[in-house]
Amino acid sequence: MTQPTILTGIRANSELTLGNFLGALVPMVRLANQHSNDCHINIFAPDLHSIISDIDGELQQNIVHSLKYYLAAGLSLNKNIHIYRQSRVPAHSELCWILNCIASMGDLGRMTQYKDKSEGKDSVNVGIFDYPVLMAADILLYDATYVPVGEDQFQHIELTRRLAEKFNKKFGKIFTLPVTPEQQVKFMNVADGIRIRDLQNPEKKMSKSTASENSKIMLSDTPEQVKKKIMSATTDSVGKIQFDMFNQPGISNLLQIDALVNDLPLQDIISTWAGETHYGDLKKKVAEDVSVFIGEFQRKLATISDQEVLDLLAQGEDYANQVANAKLLEVQKAFHLR
Ligand code: TYM
Repeated sequence: MTQPTILTGIRANSELTLGNFLGALVPMVRLANQHSNDCHINIFAPDLHSIISDIDGELQQNIVHSLKYYLAAGLSLNKNIHIYRQSRVPAHSELCWILNCIASMGDLGRMTQYKDKSEGKDSVNVGIFDYPVLMAADILLYDATYVPVGEDQFQHIELTRRLAEKFNKKFGKIFTLPVTPEQQVKFMNVADGIRIRDLQNPEKKMSKSTASENSKIMLSDTPEQVKKKIMSATTDSVGKIQFDMFNQPGISNLLQIDALVNDLPLQDIISTWAGETHYGDLKKKVAEDVSVFIGEFQRKLATISDQEVLDLLAQGEDYANQVANAKLLEVQKAFHLR
């Protein structure tokens, strides 16, 4: 019996937000530490996905930096943990091309991320449109069953499943389907898909690309910056501290963030604040908890060297090329390319 694979990637275009961290990185580290004896754990830098937007600064340095985050967040290393860069495993690009030949334009045009990124623009690059097909290749090459990602990426997991199903129907069972988003959430042991909201506009997700600095908490923020941003977060006029994402997204976001940084069930935090009405008190508590959380993370980050990551990449890329090339060969044979 082969071991299941748990796989995820985070783009390293710039510094990461608290949303990336709590939505994907922390859950991945928790799962890796629980399952690295019985699963393969693939953590990769999707650098080909990074170049859909302009790269500012040093992509190589940002990649190494972003991979250090997993170690600083407590990832325990063992032989089943594989860390690699997408562009160092050329099979990703080739499988993406092959999957393009079975993907439909209509399906890709319906992806929310594509619609958001193309809205109001005269022209967008093809990479933005094709992004989910490359993501499907990232997942299917390794037969990954579990893909811990934030809620905004669930549509791409559904698409991956559809592409794999279409392919398998035609050529026999070559790909393993990742489980559905509902099953992913269950496996991650989180109440729902995680979507950390923009602090100023809590209808939207917190995003690195938002221009307003007060909207997002960056992992490099100082405790003072974190506190200032949380104290100025948008709330509502309901006057009750309760979890109601629909009517009170700002307050609900703060409750969710506090649960995640304290590693407590959301329900515990909701119960603690039940009946309270002072939004300022909630903000002060969350501001304190997040600044302590980020401060501890930054102290750990400072102890990890670039070389540690480079050594892991050398081993991980050997492994990834072996596994990915074997799967690619099966696919090439199915298409009579070999
Ligand atoms: P990226 O870099 O845009 O996002 C990385 C991860 O962060 C999650 N995320 C959030 N989670 C909760 N709240 C937020 N506000 C928030 N913002 C971002 C995203 O859901 C994601 O999990 N397409 C992937 C990268 C990728 C990938 C893959 C992931 C490429 N290939 C294959 C898994 C498997 C992405 O969204 O990157």
